[in-house]
Amino acid sequence: MSKSFLSVEGLAKRFPAPKGGKPLTVFEHVNFTVEKGEFVCIIGHSGCGKSTILNVLAGLDEASEGAVIMGGREVKGPSLDRGVVFQNYSLLPWLSALKNVTFAVRARHPDWRREKVTAHAYRHLEMVGISDGAEHRKPSQLSGGMRQRVSIARAFATQPELLLLDEPFGALDALTRGVIQDELLKVWGETHQTVFMITHDVDEAIYLADRILLMTNGPFAQVAESVEISLPRPRSRDAIVEDPRYYRIRNHLVHFLARRSKEMSGERRREPGARPTTVRFDAEGEPPAGGPRLYAVND
Ligand SMILES: Nc1ncnc2c1ncn2[C@@H]1O[C@H](COP(=O)(O)OP(=O)(O)OP(=O)(O)O)[C@@H](O)[C@H]1O
Ligand SMILES: [Mg+2]
Repeated sequence: MSKSFLSVEGLAKRFPAPKGGKPLTVFEHVNFTVEKGEFVCIIGHSGCGKSTILNVLAGLDEASEGAVIMGGREVKGPSLDRGVVFQNYSLLPWLSALKNVTFAVRARHPDWRREKVTAHAYRHLEMVGISDGAEHRKPSQLSGGMRQRVSIARAFATQPELLLLDEPFGALDALTRGVIQDELLKVWGETHQTVFMITHDVDEAIYLADRILLMTNGPFAQVAESVEISLPRPRSRDAIVEDPRYYRIRNHLVHFLARRSKEMSGERRREPGARPTTVRFDAEGEPPAGGPRLYAVND
């Protein structure tokens, strides 16, 4: 059995045939692992099943086949060990930002004294730049970006072993998105939690992730590749675009989404136990004509 922190084994999601229709296999043979403390992004076209996989990891949805093993135990149902941030913030509207966080922290640590809960909540809100009175405002009195920061603070403050983020910045403008990406990296750097995040944005994924999982198109979608982002940390937006690997990684991702995600899709294209192909890029030399140089090894 795998010794990884998180192991997804043979996951499939199928829907029975509606009246007069055909049954639907959204994805199948999904196998991948995540190591403790890793930041993993997953990219794929709309409908391939990314949110379904994330919800199965969260214990909010059930797979039709396969299993998710976390810390040696099978994931069954939701748990405070797994914190989720959705695109639509999901804050409790009748509570202030601070109370949204303290409410979650109290659920996680019922034995903590009130002062400790409040101090812990303040610290995490400060980490994402919610301070100077903004913490006392209700969600409706905060901007979209601020609400999303509160959601991130709340998720991190509950100290889940695994943080699951479903397109958390999808609704934000580019400037706000950049600021919150940096806040997320800062909090992740301080807490060493494991992050699994869905995004549609290849630049965001390269900036944030240690590794990017690439999904083929559905139906019968699969996780086909695992692209290692070997860019050194801490990363800055100015510096990474100077790194020769950056554009090779980016070209590879864009090419996958534009072409290969479709070419590689379809029924029974991969063996049931197939792991994603690991893709690594060389830092040396110019990319050869005809595409990026890459080392692909099966793990
Ligand atoms: N009850 C259902 N019956 C049939 N099909 C369903 C049902 N619920 C979800 N689906 C299908 O499952 C597929 C996967 O949905 P999911 O939300 O996981 O995709 P996604 O990759 O997150 O897409 P997006 O990028 O648009 O968020 C979709 O094609 C959807 O139509
Ligand atoms: Mg989705």
